[in-house]
Amino acid sequence: MPAISEPEPSGRTPSGTPSPGSPASGHATAPAAARAERLTKAYGAGDTRVVALDTVDVEIGRGRFTAIMGPSGSGKSTLMHCLAGLDTVTSGRIWIGDTEITALGERQLTRLRRDSVGFVFQAFNLLPTLSAEENITLPADIAGRRTDPDWLKRVIETLGIGDRLRHRPSELSGGQQQRVAVARALASRPEIIFADEPTGNLDSRSGAEVLGFLRGSVDELAQTVVMVTHDPVAASYADIVLFLADGRIVEQLTAPTADAVLERMGRLDGQSVDGPSIDGRSSGNR
Ligand SMILES: Nc1ncnc2c1ncn2[C@@H]1O[C@H](COP(=O)(O)OP(=O)(O)O)[C@@H](O)[C@H]1O
Ligand SMILES: [Mg+2]
Repeated sequence: MPAISEPEPSGRTPSGTPSPGSPASGHATAPAAARAERLTKAYGAGDTRVVALDTVDVEIGRGRFTAIMGPSGSGKSTLMHCLAGLDTVTSGRIWIGDTEITALGERQLTRLRRDSVGFVFQAFNLLPTLSAEENITLPADIAGRRTDPDWLKRVIETLGIGDRLRHRPSELSGGQQQRVAVARALASRPEIIFADEPTGNLDSRSGAEVLGFLRGSVDELAQTVVMVTHDPVAASYADIVLFLADGRIVEQLTAPTADAVLERMGRLDGQSVDGPSIDGRSSGNR
């Protein structure tokens, strides 16, 4: 499997209209935001051994929006968790920016995750007793560091939650809660943001809103986003889609349209009938 490397930056939007503030400049030569070399992850042993990732080579372009798709059980969540340093690998190496995370001890890894990685989960994972603003700055507050106020202001403006900062999560819609969760992920200006099915709990309109803001964080704030999704429309917001099947990256698509993604997903679903995806079309989030 070839390394996925530096296709042209696009800065497009799903509708095909040019996005504001073209993000294209300078990205072609930038180092990858994250990279894996011969990444293998197996669970269990003997009869019950499952190879979730099979010698995957992948490069996540900096300042780009990457979607990861594939049938249920194809290894999407595992790939994301390994790249984010949330899970150990069986073999292979992973870098976030210039740092090889597979060479770090637990404490260094914890610090790197805190400083360089942002997460957005399907279940927004906001603390109910804190205001939106307190939720956004919580990771920095815990780490005893100040959130750059100018950056925070831009993030809040980009996400359109300026008038919701004093509200508690229960006073916000699902879409607003997820926007707060995206703001929290962006607050430390991380090297990379990982989102696992971020729109999975949202109606399509709120989902579109959140995807628009993830897109905006790439176009306007030059962030790097990696998103696992099973939704072709969600994937069409990305610059590139990586398709997984049976623990391998089998295809990639740049400037994806929902139709093109759907067509490829159909082919992959057809191919992997003997794979672990026979549990149907549920997204199997872990
Ligand atoms: N903690 C685990 N223990 C055992 N098997 C696991 C574990 N997590 C994932 N798997 C297996 O690894 C494969 C890939 O899982 P996953 O990455 O969750 O797929 P996806 O996110 O694409 O649905 C599946 O066969 C799954 O059953
Ligand atoms: Mg999953």
